Amino acid sequence: MSDLQNTLTRTLPVKEAIESRSSIRQFEPSMPKEDLLEILRLASLAPSAFNAQPARFVVVENPETKGKLQAAAYGQKQVTSAPYTIVVYSDMEDVLATAEETSHPAFGDEGKTRQRQTFEGAFGGQSVENRAAWANAQANIVLGYLLIATRSLGYDSVPMLGFEPNKVKELLGLPAHVQIAALLPVGKAAEQGKSHHRHSVDRITRFA
Ligand SMILES: Cc1cc2nc3c(=O)[nH]c(=O)nc-3n(C[C@H](O)[C@H](O)[C@H](O)COP(=O)(O)O)c2cc1C
Repeated sequence: MSDLQNTLTRTLPVKEAIESRSSIRQFEPSMPKEDLLEILRLASLAPSAFNAQPARFVVVENPETKGKLQAAAYGQKQVTSAPYTIVVYSDMEDVLATAEETSHPAFGDEGKTRQRQTFEGAFGGQSVENRAAWANAQANIVLGYLLIATRSLGYDSVPMLGFEPNKVKELLGLPAHVQIAALLPVGKAAEQGKSHHRHSVDRITRFA
């Protein structure tokens, strides 16, 4: 069995995945698509308020499209080095248009009606921009899951905010109202990451 085929038999526990994750910007050229799909499946299990699930993905794999995405990301080379670059975004308008989909089946038709009413009450009076910001916060939880799931399956990534959102939306045919949480190049590392340099828990925590 090749190293690549072996990946799923060597998943790292969450603690080890967190401790061994660091940003990687140079990747091996390929990665089995089923592993990428498993990473997305794990990330799709992230929780969201009201179970609204506003996060969406575009997986950029086409070399020409990746080249254009790199240009929209100030030329950052990790976008084309990775076999896949995931565009993590949220679409709150889609959430509102399809409210019933996110009601748990255990609640039946009544639950679907209640979910639509809840969304209308919570977001109907908000501007598209304000509710997009709310959805972006939910998508960032998914981004965190993606980072850990990627490492757990033996792969690496680098979260990226260095890009021009309007150019990325235009390139990928995304509507103007969506909010892009991050670009995430994913693949097998072809370089060593840096060790962690973080505040101590003492520095960032107080008990009250
Ligand atoms: C939201 C977010 C956006 C980031 N944007 C970029 C980016 O555009 N380009 C880049 O090279 N690194 C980017 N980084 C990576 C950070 O520089 C990196 O996570 C940080 O320096 C800590 O290093 P580590 O990830 O290796 O632990 C980003 C990280 C986060 C969490």
